[in-house]
Amino acid sequence: MCGIVAYLGKKTAQPILIEGLKRLEYRGYDSAGLAMLSGGIIKIKKTKGRINDLEKILDKPIESETIGIGHTRWATHGEPNSVNAHPHLDYTGKIVVVHNGIIENYSTLKTWLQSEGAKFVSDTDTEVISNLIGYFYATGNGAAGQNKFEWAVQRALKEIHGTYGLAILCSDFPDTLIGAKNGSPLILGVGDSEYLLASDAAAIVEHTTQAIYPANNEVVVITAAGFHTKTLDNVTVTETIKKIEFSLEQIELGSFPHHMLKEIFEQPKSLSTCMGGRIDIQNNRIKLGGIASYLRELTRTRRIIFTACGTAFHAGLVGEFLFEHLARIPTETEYASEFRYRNPILEDGTVVIAISQSGETADTLAAVEQAKERGATVLGIVNVVGSSIARTTDAGIYLHAGPEIGVASTKAFTAQVAVLSMLAIELGRRRHISSFHATECMKELAKIPDKISRILQQSDHIKQIAAANIDRNNWLFLGRGFNYPVALEGALKLKEISYIHAEGLPAAEMKHGPIALIVDGMPAVFIATEGPQYDKIMGNIAEVKARGGKIIVVATEGDNNIKKYADHLITVPDAPEIFQPMLTVIPLQLMAYHAAVLRGHDVDKPRNLAKSVTVE
Ligand code: G6P
Repeated sequence: MCGIVAYLGKKTAQPILIEGLKRLEYRGYDSAGLAMLSGGIIKIKKTKGRINDLEKILDKPIESETIGIGHTRWATHGEPNSVNAHPHLDYTGKIVVVHNGIIENYSTLKTWLQSEGAKFVSDTDTEVISNLIGYFYATGNGAAGQNKFEWAVQRALKEIHGTYGLAILCSDFPDTLIGAKNGSPLILGVGDSEYLLASDAAAIVEHTTQAIYPANNEVVVITAAGFHTKTLDNVTVTETIKKIEFSLEQIELGSFPHHMLKEIFEQPKSLSTCMGGRIDIQNNRIKLGGIASYLRELTRTRRIIFTACGTAFHAGLVGEFLFEHLARIPTETEYASEFRYRNPILEDGTVVIAISQSGETADTLAAVEQAKERGATVLGIVNVVGSSIARTTDAGIYLHAGPEIGVASTKAFTAQVAVLSMLAIELGRRRHISSFHATECMKELAKIPDKISRILQQSDHIKQIAAANIDRNNWLFLGRGFNYPVALEGALKLKEISYIHAEGLPAAEMKHGPIALIVDGMPAVFIATEGPQYDKIMGNIAEVKARGGKIIVVATEGDNNIKKYADHLITVPDAPEIFQPMLTVIPLQLMAYHAAVLRGHDVDKPRNLAKSVTVE
């Protein structure tokens, strides 16, 4: 939620900031703003709306303005309007701040600052940060041998409880940019005589692939001469410059109209990359280097808890089936937001595994911290390298799915399921299943990317099905067994980008209530692929058909029997039931995509949503 970007270098800052904000716009898009620092003067432009709206109110870039900060907002405190939009200037007019995160004690600090004479103009929590820094800067003495701006930032941040990724400027320091981080992402791109601070590498890679990742409670001070990082107690931190592992091409649309469609179509490749080098059929091994030193503990574990939010939660549910089926380990999947407040019982021998695309989801991160505090081993299945969850967990497995920009998660889901499948096979091989069975599983898993390519060829056909049902405002998604989480995911996808109400259910549960919803022509999407529950789901299809529901079926290629029940048929290649979710989810992703486009929605930036939910 919210994206920040800042530039200090020799180039004209404004276009670089605008480009950076556009790349971060998936993080929030209800208001946006820029502040430029030039000759000791701070100039701010901000507005409600998107980056395009901001561009409309900007003056022509001034070549000599080479330092600035920018923000794209997803509102938490205060409605989206131009006053609440960032950057926020302090009451002395010297300090300007952009912020991603939430300040929990802002109300107490605000009251105190007001009693000290500070004026507030917005409803945001962020204004407390600029005013607090401004207050210490105006009233404090600083520390000997330290620049007072840096001192005031450290001093103010010691008072703040909450999360922040910050970029800060001070009019008295026309050549200095300060960044700070706690709980929200912040990366410093280190270029050739230029620096970019940003919430995400996407805003940086066009300029440099060298970066540092400050840790929590660190302040990074940047000038044309270089940068240094310190703790809030002014202890110098040695940073290692790392390479950003993705390219500009990966985050550009190419020939696709939307990131979501691009990412759906990328899945054969992203899955091949995710599994490449890890499935070693010849030696009958799955190689998961990141958790190698925990495999022994995992093999002996008595219980595994997956914790995640949104689509990653659905991947966890598939993981639950996989782990129980292949490794015979009791497994549960918990919403991170529930787990963290539930006083969970984590007996000795329980391993918690957090699943997250971004690695920044606030609830998942809090669940990780909670599990660690209780002494559990906590592993991560994360896409974004160096993200907070990746760094907080004891060890983990990266998805290597490449950057996911579309707010509705697609390729991360299939990669999460692929990683869970690999881990389940490896644990199964060590605990429960025969070597032969493990090899068969590996061979089948390796075939999944090609099978997805075949499903993608039906995109136009799926578009026609979406078009035929586009006026319907209530849909059902039904599946059983391994495909029950896929039904949940299909419904979530449709809701989040098409704004069509949808329910996902284990098909047999329909009879316990939702069947009352069925009216003539209501679309019911059944995942009825071949597997142990095929006959059961046929019964469920008949029940809906008898009540006038419109039957859309995802079935196995060559299933002629099902044709007579289906109003619309989509097929997927044959695969063992345990790996079907990576196939059956593809038509549902495409269905949601086409429905959203047909309804005229902004697919990559759905209403009220943000890609990375860094607030509770
Ligand atoms: C948001 C996104 C979802 C995503 C969820 C969890 O709600 O819109 O697509 O599944 O966050 O995100 P994570 O980055 O932790 O996987």
